[in-house]
Amino acid sequence: MVLTISAPAAGSASPSPQRPASFLQCAACHSVDPGRNGVGPSLAGVAGRKAASLPTFNYSAALKNSGLTWDAASLDRWLTSPQRTVPGTKMPFAGIPDPAKRKEVVDYLMTLK
Ligand code: HEC
Repeated sequence: MVLTISAPAAGSASPSPQRPASFLQCAACHSVDPGRNGVGPSLAGVAGRKAASLPTFNYSAALKNSGLTWDAASLDRWLTSPQRTVPGTKMPFAGIPDPAKRKEVVDYLMTLK
C-alpha cells in the first residue's frame, strides 16, 4: 500500500491552526476530511463525538464498547497508549510518550470541524 503524507505548508500565513509535525504520523492512517476514512476513521469533528460512532467505519468491538467520548482529557489518555486505554483496539499505534507533543496533537484535534 502506498501512503501519501502531505506536509503542512511551511510559513503559511493562514490563520487556521497549524497541523503539528507530530500529526504526520497520524495522517498516514487518518484523514481530517469529513467522510474520508483511511486505515483509520476520519478525524473530522472528532471533538465531542462518542468513540467509534462513525457509521462508515468498521471499528473494533473494544472501541465500540469503550464508553469514551472524545474530549481533551480522553484524547490525551488515548494517545498516551491506545492499547492500555482501550485493550483490544485495532489502532496499531504505540502512543506519543512526550506530553508536550501529545498536547499539540490534542489541541489540533480539538479544532477539527
Ligand atoms: C497505523 C494506523 C494508525 C495510526 C498511525 C494512527 N491511528 Fe488512530 N486509529 C486507527 C484505527 C484502525 C482506528 C480504529 C480503532 C478501533 O476501531 O479499535 C483508530 C482510531 C482513532 C481514534 C478514534 C476515532 C473514533 O471515531 O472514535 C482517534 C481519535 C485516533 N485514532 C487518533 C489518532 C491520532 C491522533 C494518531 C496519531 C498520533 C493516530 N490515531 C494514529 C489507525 C491509526
